[in-house]
Amino acid sequence: MELTTTLSEHVRTRLARAERIAVLTGAGISAESGVPTFRDPDGLWARFRPEELASMEGFLANPERVWQWYQHRRHVLESVQPNPAHRALVQLENLVGEVIIITQNVDRLHQRAGSHRVLELHGNLEDNYCSACGRPYCDDGSADDRLPPRCPSCGGLIRPAVVWFGEPLPADVFAAAERAARRAEVFLVVGTSCQVYPAAALPQIAWECGATIIEINPLPKPIGSIAHAVLPHKAGSALPALVEHIAWLRATGGTEQTTLPQR
Ligand code: OAD
Repeated sequence: MELTTTLSEHVRTRLARAERIAVLTGAGISAESGVPTFRDPDGLWARFRPEELASMEGFLANPERVWQWYQHRRHVLESVQPNPAHRALVQLENLVGEVIIITQNVDRLHQRAGSHRVLELHGNLEDNYCSACGRPYCDDGSADDRLPPRCPSCGGLIRPAVVWFGEPLPADVFAAAERAARRAEVFLVVGTSCQVYPAAALPQIAWECGATIIEINPLPKPIGSIAHAVLPHKAGSALPALVEHIAWLRATGGTEQTTLPQR
């Protein structure tokens, strides 16, 4: 793939000098690993109803259906690997003092790639807890794919530790994400439609606090108006190219007019 985006002097200088970069990621960064997105034409919400599968009401109405869907998604994750976009963000840590990834994804692919500071806004698919008493539930591998287990303490139904529609985000995680957005000198927005709040507010917060905003998305309408640069490509190509370019800018001072390297 060819990347020929010309970066403005402002963007080049920021990339050459920034010591704090925050990255908001969404389902698009994992698409090339084989994890489906939500709102693309072949995404999960084109085939399934979110209110049935991703809400407490849906779970209580049909716990088996919801449990089976999450077990299926867990099994999908067993056979996928982080892709070059996840790995590029690990490389970025070698170039910049502070890299904080704020992810809406529940697939743990950033951690599996080796990123050190990952804030999971929407929980994760690995863990479970009791929907009645809230105690964490340790799955010893014996959980039935068809029926949610029962809590050993109170008998309540066990649910996945993901945030469902209508539920608040973990307050400490969102506070850390907001702090990272406020502190960031560069804020990357990768593979998200920016339709789900409060995560979708973070690019605006970063922009208001003076961050340089760069969006990577093959269909980059979500935050187009506040982005200082838009790379309208898949993350698996664009992020490695961008990180390679950041390394080059930091080595040279970022003063020369450049285009991103071709791939
Ligand atoms: P969406 O499915 O809403 O958006 C995915 C975005 O990724 C779209 O803008 C695509 O254009 C883009 N995209 C697709 N392939 C890509 C690629 N290879 N590289 C880069 N971008 C690509 O997913 P999210 O924005 O993550 O929440 O959705 C946010 C939340 O909505 C999810 O965390 C989930 C969902 O309901 C909960 O379950 C709470």
